[in-house]
Amino acid sequence: MQFSHPLMHDNFTKGDLNAVIKLLKKKNKILTQSKYVKLFEKKWSRWLGVKYSVFVNSGSSANLLTMTVLKMLYGGGEIILPALTWVSDVNSVIQNNFKPVFVDINPKNLCMSEDEIIKKINKNTLAVFMTHAQGFNGLTSKLVAFLKKKRVLLIEDVSESHGATFNKKKLGTFGIISNFSFYYAHHMTTIEGGMVCTNDKKIYEIVKILRSHGMARESDNLTFEKKMIIKYPKLSPKFIFLYPAYNFRNNEVSGVIGLSQLKSLDKNNKKRKDNFKFFLKSIDQSKYRTDFQLKGSCNYAFPVILKKKNLKSRNLFEKMLLKNKIEFRRGSAGGGNQLRQPYLQKFIKNINLNNFKEVDHIHFFGYYIGNYPSLTKIKIKKICNILNHIKI
Ligand SMILES: Cc1ncc(COP(=O)(O)O)c(C=O)c1O
Repeated sequence: MQFSHPLMHDNFTKGDLNAVIKLLKKKNKILTQSKYVKLFEKKWSRWLGVKYSVFVNSGSSANLLTMTVLKMLYGGGEIILPALTWVSDVNSVIQNNFKPVFVDINPKNLCMSEDEIIKKINKNTLAVFMTHAQGFNGLTSKLVAFLKKKRVLLIEDVSESHGATFNKKKLGTFGIISNFSFYYAHHMTTIEGGMVCTNDKKIYEIVKILRSHGMARESDNLTFEKKMIIKYPKLSPKFIFLYPAYNFRNNEVSGVIGLSQLKSLDKNNKKRKDNFKFFLKSIDQSKYRTDFQLKGSCNYAFPVILKKKNLKSRNLFEKMLLKNKIEFRRGSAGGGNQLRQPYLQKFIKNINLNNFKEVDHIHFFGYYIGNYPSLTKIKIKKICNILNHIKI
């Protein structure tokens, strides 16, 4: 269906196209991971405010590398994560044999509830894997202080919240590692792509090796590489595979797109923030939730969450959106409650869904629609008019 209000609109710009053409027209070019990937990593690190970033081929690969490096450095343990998140956040945890411990969400920011996290922390907890859902900040001073006191690691998934802040500092700078996705409908895109960010040099070097088949020469640390060559004299110096790893590299085309998109990210995010406020002002508060925690948020979508728990109303809502060609996703970005998904059943035998009432509300009655930079106030008014007239 051709949507009149899609989830994302025209986010690959003329500037991006020109950057790609310029690259492709170069003589003697390298298109696999090379200097533009490196430059994008450098500029992204500067934009975010971290020392190191590793560009990979998706946000899911960033999740998987993050959990793999945790496994290598810390062994096993429990990882606390939200029931409302993307599937790869959960998969990365179980694929690395950590025990996933799920937490319900705070309805005001769709991120894990601070009190629920604190309740679930015990001596086996290795990390809290926070998803900053839908542009909202999930951190609080109490939570950050508690994690520090208990020596529990914080990992941030900022794939849905580029540019959002906590205490005026960008999300993705608080955790020991943070992940981003540059998939098409997010705040910025590299077509497919993701980033692993950290201030920890050791983590950075291991992630680089893991990104590229486990090869020692990828570490970016010549002393380490030389040490490995001496340690393994019977191996070809360029082919020393240290760990069972992956090929999660991205390429130069995506690198130049990333560099080009990054230039407009702050400007685009400002528009998104303005649009979000206008949307909240225009939507019927008796039908839809509007009591969101806005401080620091930067949303690439509008959460349209029905207040009433009524399946008939919900079906009518979906019918009317389709009739008016408004694209939507039910269950927020990850499709709602991960605990209801088949892939997870054998890992969560004793879970009581009654303890996940907030995420279940989003699962059945929560939606998002697009909030892209070219969206005009007139169009938002029009969309809200349609939403407000649905008889729910
Ligand atoms: C919170 C979150 N993490 C990870 C991902 C995975 O990113 P990708 O689609 O780039 O694999 C997504 C995807 O949208 C996401 O929303």
